[in-house]
Amino acid sequence: MEWIVRIKLGYRSYDVRIAGGLLEALGAAAAAMENVHQVAVICDSNVAPLYGTRAVGSLEAADVSATLIPFDSGEANKNLKTFAALMDSLLAIEPAIDRNTVVVAVGGGVTSDLAGYVAASALRGLRWLCCPTTLLADVDASVGGKTGINHNTAGKNLIGAFHQPSGVMIDVETLRTQPDDVMKCGLAECVKHGVIRETGLLDFIEDNAETILARDTEVTADLIARNVEIKAAVVADDEREAGRRAHLNFGHTIGHAIETLAGYGKTVRHGHAVALGMVAACHMAVKRGLIEADAAARVRRLLERLGLSVRRKGLDTGKVWQIMQHDKKARGGRVRMILPTMLGQVDIFDDITPAAVAEAVEALAAK
Ligand SMILES: NC(=O)c1ccc[n+]([C@@H]2O[C@H](COP(=O)([O-])OP(=O)(O)OC[C@H]3O[C@@H](n4cnc5c(N)ncnc54)[C@H](O)[C@@H]3O)[C@@H](O)[C@H]2O)c1
Ligand SMILES: [Zn+2]
Repeated sequence: MEWIVRIKLGYRSYDVRIAGGLLEALGAAAAAMENVHQVAVICDSNVAPLYGTRAVGSLEAADVSATLIPFDSGEANKNLKTFAALMDSLLAIEPAIDRNTVVVAVGGGVTSDLAGYVAASALRGLRWLCCPTTLLADVDASVGGKTGINHNTAGKNLIGAFHQPSGVMIDVETLRTQPDDVMKCGLAECVKHGVIRETGLLDFIEDNAETILARDTEVTADLIARNVEIKAAVVADDEREAGRRAHLNFGHTIGHAIETLAGYGKTVRHGHAVALGMVAACHMAVKRGLIEADAAARVRRLLERLGLSVRRKGLDTGKVWQIMQHDKKARGGRVRMILPTMLGQVDIFDDITPAAVAEAVEALAAK
């Protein structure tokens, strides 16, 4: 079965298609776009041999000329150097690219961020198609139109552009080969979507946790469609992030501080940091009388069942607060957090105190 979620953004609207085996349909989809004769497929070094060559095969079978442009995998390579190398390769293609050339990203969030930004920049903007191959890229990175790269010293995602793809094609079967821990990071964002917008999604994940972890194609496709719908709804409300798009930062304020603190040597993956951040934020919501302790316990239990981190000892509460204050989400020195007001609903709070954060972070050390 194929799921289709329409992303409604006026004349830039597009479909997210979700099904097993969809990579085989890439060629037909590209050939159906207006004036497409040439495509550049951007892939990282892990994904290129697995799916990059398949993408090129599908395009060539549909009479679309395709060039595979690989780059070295990893977040550390989502930078200006790789961007420049990709641009060099793109501009060296013969015959030369023109405004009708389409960029295709096949890979995880690093690839879609990089390739999307290459598409936004080359010839002042080329169309692009996104074929995500990690759960995180499916439910998060591929929806919303944010593309970009990290600055090596100043920080993550500081260089970039909003550039919506012309389409997203999610081949759920590609998820079978993604590393386990990468999949868990995607699941953390799924739980986040449930808490901020829809308890029905939490019920679905609870009811299907084992099948999801076993990567069943149909259940995973359903999971992805539900999440894409939620992220698309939040983004459509607020495409450029002034208000409600901030709800997507639930779990990410303390989470980001934990990720930054652990940065040297023993890294904490983004999804695990976000899981810890969600547990801490739920704890704060209970203390403020916003939600019942049962609701917070439910979120924590589900995260733990999915194999995500829910406890962490030895965090320096002072440093966590310091990082939160420097976070770009801090407004005028004030720390802003997204807290649940009930499961399925969150609000923005600007009156966060260091004592409340310290208490929630200390609670993460408890059994
Ligand atoms: N633009 C956005 O809105 C947005 C949102 C969330 C995250 N992101 C970005 O996404 C990135 C993280 O994405 P990610 O976790 O997908 O990382 P990633 O792209 O680095 O993929 C993780 C690892 O899995 C490998 N891989 C990917 N798909 C595979 C597959 N099917 N089989 C085998 N190996 C596979 C990759 O080579 C890589 O080593 C971060 O840079 C983050 O900033 C962007
Ligand atoms: Zn995240």
